[in-house]
Amino acid sequence: MAPQNDRPVRPVVDRLRIVRLVAWGLVAIALFGLAAISMGYLRTNGLTGGSEPIATIGGPFSLVRTNGERVTEKAFLGKPTVYFFGFTHCPEVCPTSLLEMGTYLEQLGADADKINVVFISIDPARDTPDILANYLSAFDPRIVALTGTQAEIDAVASAFRVYVRKETPDPKTGDYNVDHTAALYVMDAKGQFVVPIQYKEDAASAVAKIRRALTG
Ligand code: NI
Repeated sequence: MAPQNDRPVRPVVDRLRIVRLVAWGLVAIALFGLAAISMGYLRTNGLTGGSEPIATIGGPFSLVRTNGERVTEKAFLGKPTVYFFGFTHCPEVCPTSLLEMGTYLEQLGADADKINVVFISIDPARDTPDILANYLSAFDPRIVALTGTQAEIDAVASAFRVYVRKETPDPKTGDYNVDHTAALYVMDAKGQFVVPIQYKEDAASAVAKIRRALTG
């Protein structure tokens, strides 16, 4: 294209400058976003040194133990507590998590007595205290199981930001699955969230996280 001498050159230069500024602006926004995501990741994974609790995970609850005793979150203060959520009909995730929790407790040795482990049913319609007690008997006896009314379970799941989605029951059998968050929540002795343990996390890593809650 021939130079258009009848038009001033300057506006073209200005437009290029604006394009460059906008491009650098987008790069800056992208870098800022990445930095923010990285910090969020580091914080939720407990890799930064900050001692303040992250957001609000956990909170007050009133639920029923397998012996029928009603308890609140206060029953588990004074020791770090590992909370996790599931249901007795769970085909794979919950049995795996319960078995792995048993492994963590074994590896903690004598320190296992210095923590609480609490499994909360997110399927209270089927998980009565008796059914929970029977189910838990296959796993480490130090794991406490809690259930409650649907409203109580909804409230505690919401407090822990646990994702729960009940699938449509099978029209023939009435059986149903419940999708749910598989992470374990490590809380300190004051009930403040410390760090999550991921599903199938390496036992050494999980035990180190629990020990950190013990010393913190
Ligand atoms: Ni499960």
